[in-house]
Parts: sequence; C-alpha cells; structure tokens
Amino acid sequence: MKPILVSGIQPTGALHLGNYLGALKHFVELQNSGKYRCFFFIADLHALTQNPDPRELKGNIENLMRAFLAAGLDPRKSTLFIQSATSFPQELAQVLATFTPVSELMRMTAFKEKVIQKLGKKETFEEVVERSNFGLAEYPILMAADIFLYDAAVVPVGDDQDQHLELARTLARKFNVRFGKTFVEPKALHTDVPRLMSLDDPAKKMSKSRPAGCLFMDDSLAEIRAKFSRATTDSGREIKYDEKDKPGVSNLLLIYSSLSGESIPALERRYTGKGYADFKDDLANVAVKTLVSYQTTKKKISAVAAKTTFTKGTRIAIKVAQKKMVEVKKKIGLA
Ligand code: AMP
Ligand code: TRP
Repeated sequence: MKPILVSGIQPTGALHLGNYLGALKHFVELQNSGKYRCFFFIADLHALTQNPDPRELKGNIENLMRAFLAAGLDPRKSTLFIQSATSFPQELAQVLATFTPVSELMRMTAFKEKVIQKLGKKETFEEVVERSNFGLAEYPILMAADIFLYDAAVVPVGDDQDQHLELARTLARKFNVRFGKTFVEPKALHTDVPRLMSLDDPAKKMSKSRPAGCLFMDDSLAEIRAKFSRATTDSGREIKYDEKDKPGVSNLLLIYSSLSGESIPALERRYTGKGYADFKDDLANVAVKTLVSYQTTKKKISAVAAKTTFTKGTRIAIKVAQKKMVEVKKKIGLA
C-alpha cells in the first residue's frame, strides 16, 4: 500500500507565492509522482480562528477550491475535500485535547504570532492568553485530527508548521502507548522553499499578514513586474546565493530556481557579470509565465464546478475518516 499523504490550506485570503512554492506546487508534484495516496483539503475550520466575515470566508473557500484545481490538483488522482463538511475532525480533536497539556499549546510559536498579529501589537504572554480566542490555542489539535483521520505518514507544509507536526507526533505516541497502535506518527515534507521571504523585506517571511511583501498568485502582469523590480536586493552587485550577506538576492534566486527548475549554481553562472536589473527582469518573465498560465486555467474553472468536485471528494474522505473514528471510539470506550 502507498503511504498516505494529507495537507490542507486555510481559506484566509489571497494565495501568495509562498503558499504556492512552499505548499501547493509541491502538492501537485507529490500527487503526480504516484508515490502516495493523497488527500488535500480546504482548512475552513482553521480559518474560523481569524473570525472572518461570513461572505468573505465563503468567497475565499470558493477561490481556494479553484486555486487547488488550477494549480493542477486532480480529483482523479487525489481526494479533494472540505474540512468542515464532516464533524469527524472536531470529534477527534475533542479526544486528542484530553491528551494535550494546555501549556504546550501556549508555547506554540504560530499561536503566539497569530494572537499578536490579531491584536496588532506585541503583548506580554499573560495578555496573549487573556485576549486570544480558544480556537487559536486549539488549532494544532484540530490539525493533528485532520492528519490522524487518514493515517497520514507524510504532510507537505511550509516550515511554519513544523512545531504543529511535532505536537501531532507526540499526541500519536501518547495515544498509541495508552490504547495500542492507532495513529501513524506523521512527518513534515518540505520543498526547497520551506520559508519564502518577503519581497520588500527578506528578513520577514512572506505572509498574508504583510501584503506589501507578497506576490499574490492573482496579481496582474503589471503588478508582478513592478513587485520584482521593486524587490529588495542587497549591497554589492553580484548575483550569488548567500543567505547571510545577500538575503534579498538569495530569496530571488530561490524563487527563480523553483519556478524555472534551473539549479541555483546554474543561475549564478548565467548572471555572472550581469546587473540586478537584468536578473529581476528575467525573473519577472519567468514568474509571469507561471502565473499567467495558472490564472488562465483558474478563470475557466467556475465556483460551481469546483464545488461539485470537492463535494465528490468529501464523500470519499468521510468514509475513510469515519472508519478511523469508529476505531478510536471503540478503543477509548465510547463504542
Ligand atoms: P496557510 O495559508 O497559512 O494555510 O498556509 C498554507 C501553506 O503554505 C502551509 O503549508 C504553509 O506552511 C505554507 N506557507 C505559508 N507561507 C509560506 C512561506 N512564506 N514560505 C513557504 N511556505 C509557506
Ligand atoms: N495549519 C495549516 C496551515 O496553516 C493548515 C492545516 C490544517 C493543515 N490542518 C492541516 C496542514 C493538516 C496539513 C495537515 O497552513
């Protein structure tokens, strides 16, 4: 049997190049490798932790379903589904919550960052705890449930999710020790771009919370060109990969290499003696090619068609998840 692979993306706003190079593009490659049984889903329950406007959330869900399909996820090869379409993740999360020390949840970097981001300023730890919603704290438990329900061994994500996966492994171990082998301990799988940095500030991660540094997958041609031409480079003139002394150029080289498939040393050789302007122009052309092809495909996929595809996938996901939940309930004495 092929190893099982699960991943999800939250419908919390426009998809950016970090999401694409760190996650979605990788999903498609892994799906097409034929090495895994793949499940990909829209993590809409996780998005609730941001208290979104209902209409906006609905629009984001539709948009992300279309994005999955436009990027190349294929319902004939992968099970594509919506997280909230079943109550199994929440049911299992409730069980897992009873194995999770509250202190461990409070220590999660993503939790602390998200709360601070929501409140708009740095707070003391006590203020964070005081003012965060519980959904944000519980987030990694729900994520572990998403993974365990399908027996996933492999979880392709960006490196911001590593801590959550570590917690999932701990939970799997604890549960298995007490009730016998039930859950698979999942491993994160990263791309060569596990942490794409911002175009305007290579010291910060490209993130929806800082739109100024994002290249969005739906940006217009003019925006793509303008963003690369404005992108922060470093002092000196050399086009060389050096994360410490040339973080801006290194980030751009990573993007170039990831989009074009050329190796970084080959790119360095090609741009020896050339200036930043030439390099950025060529990079913009490479990005335009990928993004235009993605955008053209996405325009042809209606929200209704995407919904139909995801509804079909959800039926399959429910069957798999239900089986696991029955097994869990038996083991813990609820059935
Ligand atoms: P999210 O939009 O937070 O659900 O993230 C979707 C996926 O994109 C997750 O696997 C993240 O780890 C990944 N991701 C988000 N930002 C970046 C980034 N700047 N570089 C690489 N991967 C990222
Ligand atoms: N927490 C992930 C993110 O922010 C989304 C997610 C939810 C997820 N459940 C998951 C990813 C299960 C992988 C597996 O990107």
